[in-house]
Amino acid sequence: MTDRREFLRRFTAMAGCFAATATVGLSTGCTTSRRPMAAKVRDGVSRRYQFKQGIASADPHPDAIVLWTRVTDTAGSQAVTLVAQVSSTAAFSDIALETTVTSEPLLDQTLRLFAQGLEPSTWYWYRFVTPDGYSSPVGRTCTAPAANEEAPLELAMFSCQEYGAGFFNSYQRLIADDRNRPLDEQTKLCVHVGDWYYETVGRTFEPMGDIEPHPFNKDGSLRSNKDLPSGGARSRRGRYAHTLADFRYLQQQNLRDDALLRARALYPFVYIWDDHEVRNDYWQSYGNAGPMQKNKLASNQAWFEYCPAALSRAAAGPADENPARDFVPTDVENKNYQEFDDNFLSLEENNLKSIGSMTIYRSLSWGKTADLLLIDGRSYRGKRGVDDAILGSESVAYPSAPIDPATVATMSAGRTANGGDPPDKIVYQGAQIDNPRKSAPATTMLGAAQKSWLKEALSGSAAKWKVLCNNVPMMAFGFDSTFTEHGVPDGIYFSDSWDGYPTERNELMQFIVEQNIANVISLTGDRHAHFAGLVYDDYALDSPFPVMAELAGASVSAPCRQQLQQRLSGNDPVFAQIAVADATSTDYVYKSLPALNAWLLYGAKAAEHFNTTMDASAAREKRNPAVNPHLTYADNDAYGFFRVVIDAERCAVEFVTEPQPVVDHTNSDEPPVRRRVKLEVPAVKPGQPARLEQFKVIGEAPLMGVREED
Ligand SMILES: [Fe+2]
Repeated sequence: MTDRREFLRRFTAMAGCFAATATVGLSTGCTTSRRPMAAKVRDGVSRRYQFKQGIASADPHPDAIVLWTRVTDTAGSQAVTLVAQVSSTAAFSDIALETTVTSEPLLDQTLRLFAQGLEPSTWYWYRFVTPDGYSSPVGRTCTAPAANEEAPLELAMFSCQEYGAGFFNSYQRLIADDRNRPLDEQTKLCVHVGDWYYETVGRTFEPMGDIEPHPFNKDGSLRSNKDLPSGGARSRRGRYAHTLADFRYLQQQNLRDDALLRARALYPFVYIWDDHEVRNDYWQSYGNAGPMQKNKLASNQAWFEYCPAALSRAAAGPADENPARDFVPTDVENKNYQEFDDNFLSLEENNLKSIGSMTIYRSLSWGKTADLLLIDGRSYRGKRGVDDAILGSESVAYPSAPIDPATVATMSAGRTANGGDPPDKIVYQGAQIDNPRKSAPATTMLGAAQKSWLKEALSGSAAKWKVLCNNVPMMAFGFDSTFTEHGVPDGIYFSDSWDGYPTERNELMQFIVEQNIANVISLTGDRHAHFAGLVYDDYALDSPFPVMAELAGASVSAPCRQQLQQRLSGNDPVFAQIAVADATSTDYVYKSLPALNAWLLYGAKAAEHFNTTMDASAAREKRNPAVNPHLTYADNDAYGFFRVVIDAERCAVEFVTEPQPVVDHTNSDEPPVRRRVKLEVPAVKPGQPARLEQFKVIGEAPLMGVREED
C-alpha cells in the first residue's frame, strides 16, 4: 500500500479530478487533442478491462461536465489509462473532445474527468476506450444553458434507496416516461438528495423476516447488503458499515441495480448526502453511539470516489468562488468532544479534520431560469434542538410523544433564547424540567460558513428561481397529540430535520423576506413519503407568511413512512389506532391503511374516525384546523420520485407513486404506477406569498392525502 505521504503527493498533483478541454492549448495536466486518436474502437467488449459500475456524468456547467467511470484490469494492473471521447452524436461521428485519463488506484480505480470547452444546452455522448481498443458502455449527458439563456429545467428528484429493501424501479420509471417525450423535453438532471445507501444492514432497513416480502435477484440470490467486508460493527439496530472497504462495498452494491446503472448512463446526476451515507442521524462527525471521525472520513472518501461532482475546480483553471473542495485524505482518530464554539462547531481536532476532508455545498446555474443551491445539512450541524435529556438516550431518534414546538424552540435557541436570557426551566409533558440548553450555543443546521454562503447565493442570484436542494425538509410536520393529557396540535416528532432547528429556519426565512427575494423553492426527500407544503417565516406566529413552497419526495426503495410509523407507533395502542389500521380487506401491502395522511392533514380525530368508518367526508368534518395548515399533500404509503419542470412562469410538479419495489421492473417497458399527483407552484413577485395550486390526481387517489376544504 502506498504510504500516506505518497497518497497526498499524488492528490496534490491531480486534485482528484483530471481536466481536459475541447479547445487546444487549455489543457491542464493531461494529454488533450481534438484529433481522433490513432486507436480505432473495436466491436465487442474487452475481456481484460471491465466497467462493472458503468459510466456516469455529473454537475453540468454551460461549457463543462464531470465524466466518471471505474475500470478494473483482470491482468492486475490498477492504474489503467483510457481514452475518453465526447461526441455530439450517438455514433461518435464527430469528436468534440478526446483525452487520456488514468484510473486512480488510491481511489478504488475510479476516475473523474472535468470535460470543458463544450457547447451549452447540448446533448453529448461519451465513452472510455480501453488500451486494447474496446469501448466502455456509452453514456449520454447534457450541458447547462448559457448564463443569458431562458431554458426550462426538467429535473427529477430521488432519495432514500436501500439496496436490500427493493429494486430501484423509480429510475426505470423515469426512463420509460422520458421515452414518450421529445429529446428537448426529456429530463436534464437527476438530483439525489441523500440516503444514497443505508449503512446499517440487518434488522432496521432491510425487510424483516417473514412479515415482509424479500427482493431476490434474477439469479435467485437474496438482494442484500449483508456481506459487509468488515462484518460490520454491531449496534442495537443491526450491523453497520464503518470502514473504507465497507463504504466502497455499499457504493458498488448500489451499482448492481440495472435501473440505476442505466439512469447514470442517460442523465447527468447531482448529488448531496444525508445521514445514512455515514450513520443514522449523525451531525458533524458524531453519531448516536458516539464519536465516529474515522467513519465520516471513510464515507467521504467512498462518496468522492463513486458520486462524481464538480467540487474543486483547481485542476480546471483559476479557483472560482465555489466553496466546494475535492476530498483530501487525512488521518483521524475517534475522539470524544467537549467544546463547541458559538456556532455549535466542535473544535475537536479529529472532528475538524474529518469534516474538512471534503466540501460539497455548492451551486449550479441553469441559465436565467434557476440557480440550484446544494446544501450539506450534516457536516456542520450542531445537536438538534431536542436534547438527549428529553430523548432519554443518545441512541433514541424519536421522542416518546410529540413535543410542543415552543419547547423545541427554546432548546434550539440555547443561550440566545428569550433575547439572551434563557429560562432556567422548560415545560415538557406538563412538568417543569431544567433547561438542558441554558448555556449551549444556538444550534445550527448549516454552520456559520455555509450559512453565509447560502445567504449570499440567495441574495446575489439573478435567476428566476432559487432552488434549494435540501437533505431534510424545512417545513414543519406537526403531529396532533391533543387526545393525550399534555398534547398539542403541532407536536414535533422529526427533530432531525429543520423542525429541530427552528431558530435557524426562522433566520433564513426572515432573511429571504427582508431581502425581498421571490421564488425560492425547496426540493427534498428524507421522509420516505411524498409531501407538498409551504415554509413559513415563523410557524409560531398567529399570521405567519408563506415564504416558499417545499416538495419532499418518497423513497426509491427504503421502507415508506407508513411502514416506519407502524413500527414506531405499533407498540403504543393510542397512537397505533390513529396512525395504523388493519386494511386486510382493502388489499394494502403491509395490511395497513395510510391513516397517517389524515393525521397529518386533518388531525387525530379525523384519522381515528376514518380508521373506524372509512368515510373520508365524515372524517374531514372532525378536522382540527390548527394541524399543519401549510401542508397540502401527504402520501405516506408511497415509493417513487418526483419530477419538476421549472420555467419563468411556474414550477410544474409531478409526484410519481409506485408500488412497493420488491419486484424488479427494471426490464419492463412500463413499470407500474399507482398514481401521479400533479400541482403547480406559480412564480410570484417579491413580497407575494408562495402558493401551491392546480392539484390533479391521476390513478388511485391517496386516501385522504390531498387536502380538501369542505
Ligand atoms: Fe432515508
